Amino acid sequence: MSKYIDIKTEGRIKLISINRPNKKNALDLAMYSALAQALRDADEDNNIRVSYLTGVADAFCSGNDINDFLKNPPTDESSPVLQFINAIIKAQKPIVAAVNGIAVGIGTTMLLHCDLVYASDAARFQLPFVNIGLCPEAGSTYILTALMGHQKVSELLLLGEKFSAEQAESFGIVNKVVAANELEAIAMESARRIAEQPPNATQMSKALLRTAMRNQIVEASQRELESFIPMLSGEEAKEALTAFMEKRKPDFSRF
Ligand code: COA
Repeated sequence: MSKYIDIKTEGRIKLISINRPNKKNALDLAMYSALAQALRDADEDNNIRVSYLTGVADAFCSGNDINDFLKNPPTDESSPVLQFINAIIKAQKPIVAAVNGIAVGIGTTMLLHCDLVYASDAARFQLPFVNIGLCPEAGSTYILTALMGHQKVSELLLLGEKFSAEQAESFGIVNKVVAANELEAIAMESARRIAEQPPNATQMSKALLRTAMRNQIVEASQRELESFIPMLSGEEAKEALTAFMEKRKPDFSRF
C-alpha cells in the first residue's frame, strides 16, 4: 500500500516500521492509509496478538508530510490522516512503540494511543502545532491534560519546543528510556511477552483501561478537527508551511 511502510509478522507480532528516512519518516497520505490498514488487519487476524511500531534510521516520525499539508490537506473523516487516527484510537490489540529518534507532531500524539512506549535516549519529542499555525490533534488536548495537567501541557504546546526522552518519561508519555542500542531488544521483549499472554484477557484489559476515557478522547479528537481543518488552509499555517518548504524562518508579524 505504501513503499514507505514495512509490515512483517514475527510469530504473533505484527511489525510495523515507518521507512522514509530521507524525509525523517514524515507521513504522506499513502503511509497513513497503510498504517491504518495494518492496525485494522492486526485486530482482525486471530494469529496476531500485539503490534510493534517503530521507525527506521535516526527518526521515529517527523509528523505529517508538510508538502501534503499544503497540497492534500485532510478535509473530512474519509481522509487517510483521520482513518489512521481513528484506527489507532480504536485498536483492540496492544501496541508497543519503540521511539528510535525524533517524534514530531503526530509522531508524538500517536504514542498517546499506544500501550507500552519505549524511547531511545536519543529520541526527541515535539508538539509544534502552534508553531505552524495549527492546533493539536488525535485527542491529544484531552489525553495530555489528563496526564500532565494544564500548565505543563501549555508549555509543550504554546512554546512548541523539543523535549527529551527523559522529560517524556516524566510526563507519562513514555514507559522507559533506554540506550539506543538496546531499544529494539527491550521493546521487542515486551511485545514477545504480551504475545505469550492469554489473548482474551489481554484485549479485555486493554478495552477496560481505555473504555473510561474513550468517549472523551473521541470527542476531543472531533473538537480538535473542527479547528484543525480550517486552520490548515488559514494564513498562519500557509506562512509557516511555506516557510518550512522554503527553508526560511516564518514571519507572523502581520497577523
Ligand atoms: N514533512 C516533509 N518533509 C520533511 C518533514 C515533514 N514533516 N520533516 C523533515 N522533512 C524533510 C526536510 O524537508 C528535509 O528534506 P530535504 O533533504 O529534501 O531538504 C529532510 O526531511 C531532512 O530534514 P531536516 O530538516 O534537514 O532534518 P533535521 O534533522 O535538521 O530536522 C526535524 C528534523 C524533523 C526536526 C525537522 O525536519 C522538522 O522540524 N520537520 C518538520 C516537522 C513538523 O513540523 N511536522 C509537522 C508537525 S504537525
